[in-house]
Amino acid sequence: MNIKNICCIGAGYVGGPTMAVIAQKCPEINVTVVDINEKRIAAWNDENVENIPIYEPGLSDIVKEARGRNLFFSTDIDAAIDRAEMIFISVNTPTKTYGIGKGMAADLKYIELCARQIARVSTTDKIVVEKSTLPVRTAETLKNILTNTGNGVNYQILSNPEFLAEGTAVEDLLDPDRVLIGGDIDTEAGKDAVQSLVDVYAHWVEKDHILTTNVWSSELSKLTANAFLAQRVSSINAMSELCEKTGADVNEVAKAVGMDSRIGSKFLKASVGFGGSCFQKDILNLVYIAKSFGLNEVANYWEQVILMNDHQKRRFAANMVRTLFNTVSGKKIGFLGWAFKKDTNDTRESAAIYVADYLLNEQAEIVVYDPKVKEEQVYADLDYLNTRSEEENRKRVKVVKDPYEVTKEAHAVAVLTEWDEFKDYDWQKIYDEMLKPAFLFDGRRMLERKSKEKIGFEFYAIGS
Ligand code: UDX
Ligand code: UDX
Ligand code: ADP
Repeated sequence: MNIKNICCIGAGYVGGPTMAVIAQKCPEINVTVVDINEKRIAAWNDENVENIPIYEPGLSDIVKEARGRNLFFSTDIDAAIDRAEMIFISVNTPTKTYGIGKGMAADLKYIELCARQIARVSTTDKIVVEKSTLPVRTAETLKNILTNTGNGVNYQILSNPEFLAEGTAVEDLLDPDRVLIGGDIDTEAGKDAVQSLVDVYAHWVEKDHILTTNVWSSELSKLTANAFLAQRVSSINAMSELCEKTGADVNEVAKAVGMDSRIGSKFLKASVGFGGSCFQKDILNLVYIAKSFGLNEVANYWEQVILMNDHQKRRFAANMVRTLFNTVSGKKIGFLGWAFKKDTNDTRESAAIYVADYLLNEQAEIVVYDPKVKEEQVYADLDYLNTRSEEENRKRVKVVKDPYEVTKEAHAVAVLTEWDEFKDYDWQKIYDEMLKPAFLFDGRRMLERKSKEKIGFEFYAIGS
């Protein structure tokens, strides 16, 4: 099928950047990104392109180039569906917070709503592409809903998982390690649908980087990739604790291990714990699927990755309390960073949230600075945990726009996100303005130890 109109349902961290790049690279295709969230769509349409709702290096330039030409953002979901030959589903699939599979399974409510809407609106044949990370066999659900409408419209379901990482979304989209497309490759119509999507990506991705598989392999590959990546972080974090006890240095260990080409050097950075919308959710989902097939050993194996990550966050916070003479009650603790990694304003599952929650339970007073995260987001993250009242969170946590307000008169400062700018701060000034002894906790192994100790800091870093 020759694709002239693409619709993407969901204008979030995945849908927004992906569609912007498709529009930029395929000027002859009209790309419309729709969302039920009016505020979000308005922000994507903001005259000042710097105000788009997602911060990603390089994204605003692409939006500037393509928006209004062949890239559109709209809340008129029905119209966009009806016009499109190809529809991407890129809505959120959070972990269920209720009922069967609570805390484990992915909540497919939003996906199902999309499928029903597509079924209701469509008058011409459609290729429906799953873009959100989904449990294996979701395509089957989509197919069931779509093909039982009886109005003569034909659907092809493809799985096209997105592997972009936040903070480098544009780079990853422009030059992906691979593009994965799963479809019903045993039928002519299925093959044709797969080819239509291959043709879209072939505008800028080399053919041998575009893999085609059956739907199930594609779906499971996405979960597997995220599980392996998260497993590397938990593995190095497990070693970080052992390093602290033995006098080894986790960075030296990571380097020595990573030079083995069978292991590789990437994704071996010890940290206060991984966050982000994908790792935990996808592994929980993998664990849930394994359990549902009675594969308890498989489930337990992967669950350890999450348990280790929870331990790492708790251990970091507990170490702070212990170091501060076993109490942080009433003490000002400065947080540098709140996002789950640098170069993004996304805070989903960020380690900072859990470290803050732990310290708040110990009655600390927290002051937060993050270059990209807004005050309201910090409060929303803490409120979402439901550990204490909203008033209490606002009373005990302050969010400031100047990093030196975080450190001034603080008992301790903790680095929770590896923003580059933290390296270049005036650490002498910070030391001078902090209470003494001045405790500095580096949860990202990003600050240089010697110079900090020379200034006078009591310096603690993960894994050394
Ligand atoms: C291993 C390490 O590779 C080597 O660096 C170390 O010095 C000693 O231990 P070795 O045991 O000789 O070397 O063989 P290796 O090739 O690592 O295989 C170990 C086992 O893993 C074998 O039984 C192999 O069949 C199995 N294996 C390896 C797999 O099942 N799948 C793989 O992908 C790789
Ligand atoms: C991840 C996958 O990388 C991406 O392919 C998938 O599409 C979505 O999930 P993302 O969550 O955006 O991407 O960021 P990623 O760079 O993978 O980092 C995830 C978390 O792991 C962050 O909190 C990061 O700080 C942490 N991390 C990563 C480490 O602690 N150490 C590392 O070595 C790498
Ligand atoms: P991701 O990281 O997977 O992109 P986000 O939460 O950033 O997730 O984005 C998902 C978007 O999908 C949100 O903006 C949400 O409003 C939108 N969305 C969810 N359900 C629907 C729906 N039924 N129709 C349209 N948009 C939806």
